[in-house]
Amino acid sequence: MKRGISMIELKRRDFLKYSGIGGALLLSKIYPVGLIENAFSENVKEVKLTAAINTVDLGNGKKFKAWTYNGQMPGPEIRVKEGEILRIAVKNNLPEETTVHWHGLPVPNKMDGVPHVTQKPIQPGKTFIYEFKATPPGTYMYHSHFSYQLDRGLYGSLIVEPKKTERSYDREYVLILEDWATVDGGGPDASKMGRTKPGMGMMGGMMGRQPGGPLLEPRYDLYTINGKVFGASPFKVRKGERVRLRIVNPSSSTIYTIRIAGHPLTVTHTDGRPVLPFEVDALRIGMGERYDVELYANNPGKWHIYNIRDDSWASGWMLGSIVYKGIESKDYNYDNTGRLRINDYRFLEGMDEQYVKPVTGIDKIYRMTLSGGMMSPYWTINGRVYPESDDIAIKPGERIRFEYSNHSMMPHPMHLHGHFFEVVGSGGRTGVRIKKDTIIIPAHMGWGALEFVADNPGIWIHHCHNLYHLAAGMANLVKNI
Ligand code: C2O
Ligand code: CU
Repeated sequence: MKRGISMIELKRRDFLKYSGIGGALLLSKIYPVGLIENAFSENVKEVKLTAAINTVDLGNGKKFKAWTYNGQMPGPEIRVKEGEILRIAVKNNLPEETTVHWHGLPVPNKMDGVPHVTQKPIQPGKTFIYEFKATPPGTYMYHSHFSYQLDRGLYGSLIVEPKKTERSYDREYVLILEDWATVDGGGPDASKMGRTKPGMGMMGGMMGRQPGGPLLEPRYDLYTINGKVFGASPFKVRKGERVRLRIVNPSSSTIYTIRIAGHPLTVTHTDGRPVLPFEVDALRIGMGERYDVELYANNPGKWHIYNIRDDSWASGWMLGSIVYKGIESKDYNYDNTGRLRINDYRFLEGMDEQYVKPVTGIDKIYRMTLSGGMMSPYWTINGRVYPESDDIAIKPGERIRFEYSNHSMMPHPMHLHGHFFEVVGSGGRTGVRIKKDTIIIPAHMGWGALEFVADNPGIWIHHCHNLYHLAAGMANLVKNI
């Protein structure tokens, strides 16, 4: 684990240090009105992220050129306590523009990092300072929201720890699941550029215009956890430990069904929000989703972490391993027998919490048909390609319901910026109630529904978290102004 290696905590501002008039003036410049009072009693955590191209070693002896934060892939873990002010200076040393999005955190609109929607992109050589309050607690991620940069390595985990610990663990790991296209020898960048389908329309990628139409998905041929291939960096545990795993999927195009051989997993949170503990044998996790699970280490050995499903190129792929301390055997154990219990939104039950209130009643319903992929390089919402897709015009405080039906052959993890929502229907069943920010709409006439309160003003993007679908138009704007 490369936990927070180059995260720089420069200063803790506290009341004593900044109680003078100079301090007050300084803070009033930095904080929006309303936060000033809190700023005296709460810590500011300053972080520097420098985006640049670097050589990375995935642990298989091959070197790749990846786009990195602080030279690392994934980027440094950002870990704060609930209520702290995060001030993140993003320096752009890339050859193109960039922005950073704090995926899942309901930040103020201006801080949301969507180019041309919430901010002007950060030009090469320039720095942009993001600042927001870290709340509610949970497992999040940050990533570039510009062009295809997410698929080139620009992502990392963002953990907001609760003020009061809900439950203590003997050990904690963050597992970031990553898909790679390494063919053509040049890493994700070169292999993707080699796969542009020429002459398909004028519009191009939405987050940064790509000339010549959207890129086709590359063929992924390598999967890693925390930037390391299977065997390169096992997760160590001791017998008897209760281990918390925060599993994060910033992959561009892979839904995993992850199994840790020899161990059931107890799901405790999805997208940072608590659920009633639910035991599974394998964890299905789409792009943009996060799950916190508990693993009880009571089965000593060396165990594979692998993908069990055959609905992606990652089928059967070994991603990593869990190794008990003191185990000498050379072999890893793999198991995949019998029927495995897998999470499904319909099985999970959300918990009451102080942060995200249940939605009571509905003011407006929007129905969205997701399609594309067949005979066309574009992916659409209600037949339209972003930015020509219809806006969703809502008003502050309204209670909104989205209903999706998926007329395409691929599942789409739909993500709404700036809000948590309640999943209220999935796979044909209503009565589901879990809080999330990303919902997988199953393929082949799959159906899903969510509800949220428009409590965060601004213009927010809502899109499929398959990066190639996003770039090919599967997005629209939710205008809460
Ligand atoms: Cu993970 Cu629009 O973002
Ligand atoms: Cu999609």
